[in-house]
Amino acid sequence: MNHNRPVLVAPSLLAADFSQLENQICLVEQAGADLLHLDIMDGIFVPNISFGIPVIKSIRQKTDLFFDTHLMISNPIRYIEAFKAAGANSLTVHIEACPKPQSLFIKMRQLGLKVGLAINPQTPVDELFPFLEDIDVALVMSVEPGFGGQVFQPDAIQKITKLRSEIEIRQLPVDIQVDGGINLLNSSSCVKAGADQIVAGSAIFGQPNPDQIINKMRK
Ligand code: DX5
Ligand code: ZN
Repeated sequence: MNHNRPVLVAPSLLAADFSQLENQICLVEQAGADLLHLDIMDGIFVPNISFGIPVIKSIRQKTDLFFDTHLMISNPIRYIEAFKAAGANSLTVHIEACPKPQSLFIKMRQLGLKVGLAINPQTPVDELFPFLEDIDVALVMSVEPGFGGQVFQPDAIQKITKLRSEIEIRQLPVDIQVDGGINLLNSSSCVKAGADQIVAGSAIFGQPNPDQIINKMRK
């Protein structure tokens, strides 16, 4: 297994103080964040509502960070263009929300968006395999989507291992992202299993030393 892949850290804005978005983004940017993870929840696909397109548009004025946009929404095809116009760089959709995502991916490519596909904890990792040629990022959820601050589900590790080996066998340029409950105690097992991108909300925002946490997660 190749441990020399660069590991990217994506703070999840869901854990930020929403009354201070600009400061909070600036803080993680200066702390060395590689991407900014934006959790979009519609109250239908997941039992919670977060923030949406106007917020992305506003924060786009404040940072050049890559906006890694995690769509926990039903029927995402309705909003692809609006997310692009607001300043998203990538969109990750859930296979549970769109079992036939090919037309969605074509539209995203036409708009110049990076393409991600996510699976919930109960979804077998093999369900990503038919789409690996079409995507840039495969997201393995390590909690049920919908809320920050939950406990990491260790079953994600076996999924990452299996996905990494499939990606290596097929020699595909797909990054593996893991999201949910990640902290300094479990991030290294995710990386060892083959994760390229670590998403972390509560382990980074509101902590006194986000730069140290981001650096340690990267190692
Ligand atoms: C969960 C979201 C995650 C969440 C991560 O539905 O997709 O991105 O914000 O937050 P923590 O790291 O606190 O579990
Ligand atoms: Zn997320």
